[in-house]
Amino acid sequence: NDRINVAIDGPAGAGKSTVARLVAQKLSYIYVDTGAMYRAITWWMLRENITPEDQSQVNRKVQDLVMELIPGEDLQKVLINGEDVTPHIRSLEVSGQVSQYSGIEGVRSRLSHLQRQMALRKGVVMDGRDIGTTVLPDAEVKIFMTASVEERALRRFNELRGKEQVTLQQLEQDIARRDRLDEGREISPLRRAEDAILLDTTFMDIQQVVEAIVSHCRSHV
Ligand code: C5P
Repeated sequence: NDRINVAIDGPAGAGKSTVARLVAQKLSYIYVDTGAMYRAITWWMLRENITPEDQSQVNRKVQDLVMELIPGEDLQKVLINGEDVTPHIRSLEVSGQVSQYSGIEGVRSRLSHLQRQMALRKGVVMDGRDIGTTVLPDAEVKIFMTASVEERALRRFNELRGKEQVTLQQLEQDIARRDRLDEGREISPLRRAEDAILLDTTFMDIQQVVEAIVSHCRSHV
């Protein structure tokens, strides 16, 4: 078994999910979108009317629920207690609240534990904020993907076009705000692991980014 684990971290809207999914496809690996897990928890808590201020309630709920990830052709599906929550988790409401819930200790420890289990047998491409630093510090390949705020907002805008009523400026603000919250939080803040390769994708297209990462993986095994 010469499979490896690949950690892809970076700020909101850098295109991590798209790239990670394509890298996994090329290597015949499993793709794990950890942002989708934090989003799913957020949607679930909002529906249950549990605010992020009520940390003990959040921690209790997060321990009780059962989360499953189902790899799909396109999007990975997230189920909570058997219910497919995937259609709800990319909404602006969830994007606006997710950083508050993802800063809570019990949420992070529960999801990190699930993420480590999924990577035990190797052959996983996992994207998120703290994969290289905290979840899989031993990942054989670590990538830190960035792009300018303007470019990231533009990418999200093109992705959401027709699905959500939102302006480019709103997206820039949302992304800048989430960067601040994700970088500034106490537990596992967003930062580049010392041994992660920095990939500024502002002037790269998706295929170029995928090729760059795949060639790092191939040179490793
Ligand atoms: O990657 P995505 O933008 O879907 O992530 C949504 C949010 O989930 C992030 O803004 C961050 O607050 C949280 N997150 C996290 N740790 C991860 C992945 C996502 O805190 N590993």
